[in-house]
Amino acid sequence: MGSRLWHWSHKSRTNGTIALQSQIVSAFAWPFKTLARRMLGEQLYQQARVTLLGESGGLGLDWTWGNSLRRIHPLRRDFGWQAGQPINRYYTEKHFLAEYQRDIRGRVLEIADDRYTRLFGGNRVTASDVLGFPGCSGVTIQADLTKADHIPSAIFDCAILTFTLHVIFDVRAALMTLERILKPGGVVLIVVPGISQVSRYDMDNWGDYWRFTSLSIKLLVEKFFQPEEVTVKTYGNALSAMASLEGLLSTELSQEELDHWDRDYELVIGVRAVKRL
Ligand SMILES: C[S@@+](CC[C@H](N)C(=O)[O-])C[C@H]1O[C@@H](n2cnc3c(N)ncnc32)[C@H](O)[C@@H]1O
Repeated sequence: MGSRLWHWSHKSRTNGTIALQSQIVSAFAWPFKTLARRMLGEQLYQQARVTLLGESGGLGLDWTWGNSLRRIHPLRRDFGWQAGQPINRYYTEKHFLAEYQRDIRGRVLEIADDRYTRLFGGNRVTASDVLGFPGCSGVTIQADLTKADHIPSAIFDCAILTFTLHVIFDVRAALMTLERILKPGGVVLIVVPGISQVSRYDMDNWGDYWRFTSLSIKLLVEKFFQPEEVTVKTYGNALSAMASLEGLLSTELSQEELDHWDRDYELVIGVRAVKRL
């Protein structure tokens, strides 16, 4: 399904009836929207719009918003999590982790939950650990990755670190710990954002510090892992980057739109690195 945002103006030109309908709906809705804006203020109005109209203007009252990118508020603020699969997760799951799923085996460490260990590890996984920041519940190891001396060395075959390094200020210390706790030959699968809105939950709890480029994350990881065994992949293009910032879902772009690769739009960056034998 194409996105309402970018396809609407095209549809409007090619389908006069739909365009007319949308104009009529918008004309009727306009006084109510103006009144609601005045009463609630812009911020509250946007929140109410997203909540009441089902995140993307479900009743069609906001179709006119889709005619232009000239808006200061995104369609959804939370990467689209409440509505479906965020675009950054599409690249993480359908491309990066799918490509390297054979590395998810033996004793596996994942951060905050075991979602990808279960999804991609299958029966290759013999033991699964979940590491959470001190204070997090439902984890098997509580640790700050930047000072985690209580975790024994060389115990994991694989560590899955999706969307975590950018919320750790001392990235080098975290990478040093990861290298230490992996067995020789063990693999770390890292996914970081290149282009992203702030992750509000992370920002308010432990911080949201970094956005990476393929070069910065490569040089960082190569300091701790075998440089010749560090593979960096980037995903995204101008359309998927904009769509992601607007909180659109992977299902709102076509496969072709999602999978077009543009080296200058590093929306998501995946890194596979191996510990020296
Ligand atoms: C956005 S979540 C990412 C993990 C999740 N599996 C995912 O794919 O979305 C970021 C996690 O990093 C953890 N975190 C933040 N700072 C940390 C640190 N210094 N050491 C270990 N974990 C940390 C937080 O507890 C949070 O659960």
